[in-house]
Amino acid sequence: MIGVFDSGFGGFTVLSAFLDRLPQYDYLYLGDTARAPYGNHDKATILEYTREGVEFLFSQGASLVILACNTASSNALRELQEELIRKPGVKDKNILGVVIPIAEEVGRLKKKELALIGTRATVGSGVYQKEIEKHLKGFHLEQVACPLLVPLIEEGWAHSMETKRILKDYLRPLKFRNPELLIPACTHYPILQKEMQQVMGKRTLVLKTGEVVAKSLEDYLKRHPDMEKRLEKKGSRKFMSTDDAEKFKEISRHFFKHPLGEVQRIHLPS
Ligand code: DGL
Repeated sequence: MIGVFDSGFGGFTVLSAFLDRLPQYDYLYLGDTARAPYGNHDKATILEYTREGVEFLFSQGASLVILACNTASSNALRELQEELIRKPGVKDKNILGVVIPIAEEVGRLKKKELALIGTRATVGSGVYQKEIEKHLKGFHLEQVACPLLVPLIEEGWAHSMETKRILKDYLRPLKFRNPELLIPACTHYPILQKEMQQVMGKRTLVLKTGEVVAKSLEDYLKRHPDMEKRLEKKGSRKFMSTDDAEKFKEISRHFFKHPLGEVQRIHLPS
């Protein structure tokens, strides 16, 4: 089974893209809603929370865990790969994130004037600059943290005038530089795809991050047939959250068009 981990709801934009491209696999989605948002926490806290989420998903039978969260991918992926995967005796599990697939795609697109929006913890980590440098030379990356966008989207205000005004304010210093590419480096932001494109204008390509991550997972599974064989393919979907299950179902409707069915409330650390 593929475990999909997020602090709360943003991971649903990634899971949606997985279900479009790779519907055959079994998925278990875990949103750590009791402790979200992660984006305003420091690295040590994000690492601790993410570790507990990943260990829980492994304990439920996941062979592959995707950190469907830029904040967790930026602040915890490398460390957790070292701690949980690259040690003697572990060869049947892996953890992947969203930053590397996006950085690779930026390298393929070869656009040099880049803008990025994300949470404070993602922008503060500097991870995108480092990862893009592995695939592209001579680029300029301008980044802005947008802490108000996550709560507005979760409240169902994504398409309101108020959110558009706030988005415009956040994007102003980036738009001023006429970027060729905007990287929405938070899994909540695809809900604002149209709005981001409208504000940035035609000259700027706004990356469709869910599709990029799903394509990258497909490629990974082709390159790792042993892992691919281990994944169950009954098309089952399970959903778990660390806070109220009914509230989880309600807010998920802003992110995910599929019905969730039963949501199990769990406790972390388990
Ligand atoms: N969806 C998370 C991300 O991609 C942000 C939400 C949060 O701050 O917990 O960064």
